[in-house]
Amino acid sequence: MTRTRMLIDCDPGHDDAVAILYAARHLDLVGLTTCHGNNTIDNVTRNALSVLTLGGIAAPLAQGCADPLIGRTRSPADNAHGRTGLDGSDLPPPDRAPVAAHAVDFLIDMARTHRDELVLAVIGPATNVALAIRKEPRFASWLREISVMGGSAGLGNVTPVAEFNVWSDPEAAAVLFACGAPVRMAGYNVTSVTGANAADIARLLAGPRVARHTGELLSYYLRRQRERLGFDIAPLHDACAIVPYVQADLIEYRHCHVDVELNGRLTRGMTVCDLRTLTPAHREAGEARVQLAIRSEAPRLIDHVISTLLAYR
Ligand code: BDR
Ligand code: CA
Repeated sequence: MTRTRMLIDCDPGHDDAVAILYAARHLDLVGLTTCHGNNTIDNVTRNALSVLTLGGIAAPLAQGCADPLIGRTRSPADNAHGRTGLDGSDLPPPDRAPVAAHAVDFLIDMARTHRDELVLAVIGPATNVALAIRKEPRFASWLREISVMGGSAGLGNVTPVAEFNVWSDPEAAAVLFACGAPVRMAGYNVTSVTGANAADIARLLAGPRVARHTGELLSYYLRRQRERLGFDIAPLHDACAIVPYVQADLIEYRHCHVDVELNGRLTRGMTVCDLRTLTPAHREAGEARVQLAIRSEAPRLIDHVISTLLAYR
């Protein structure tokens, strides 16, 4: 079976780090782009380069947008990921610099080069992607699929109804969902219950170098999730956007029209998932291009990801 060709747009981030390491073992990873989100653009870029260095992953990286489409980036999400955006382990310093191209141009170039084959995984705010869609009208049509970790068909994690990645740039997320490419959405309703527990993390800590670093990162992340939300798992949100391209039976999806709320006083950044197709325009539009994750086989999925990390030598 040929490996899926993937580009990851990310903002590492503990779960981004796991997603990148996981993807590199199973997929043809053609590159990474970074976006503001979990921390400043400089910090998430340095973090992403350190993760590539840690894993010995050759993929090129292009740095992207420092701010959302409207306004300035919010204060870094240091409540979940720490001061650097990736606290908890001393990762190796980056062994390379970003490529000269801006992420938006790199995205367009990669989509053109790998036309009809590329899966674009968006595991941070969608700013780079929205700008690529606007700059090159054919961009979306060149993609095989966009896989998003973002939004929720239930609770949010920043506001009662808004998830962090969509909340960080709702206008960009709206452009992405409306771009016409098939979209696979792993929302917070599924990803927040798909996480590594203390025993999973202990397995990593007892493993070889890459696994041990990841175990240290996830120990930190689990502690913060406990303090903030009372969770007893470290959710691997971002890995949920990658796993279906390796093992298709771990997450269940339903076709569903999704709109992003841009105006609500209490609901800005909410993804409105029309699971019952109640909106007349959606009924007229026919089958939705979004496949919405509705359930994961969490223990099997997590075991699969942990085993992948343990296989690094
Ligand atoms: C998302 O927000 C970030 O903090 C995580 O990396 C993930 O992409 C979860 O809401
Ligand atoms: Ca992320």
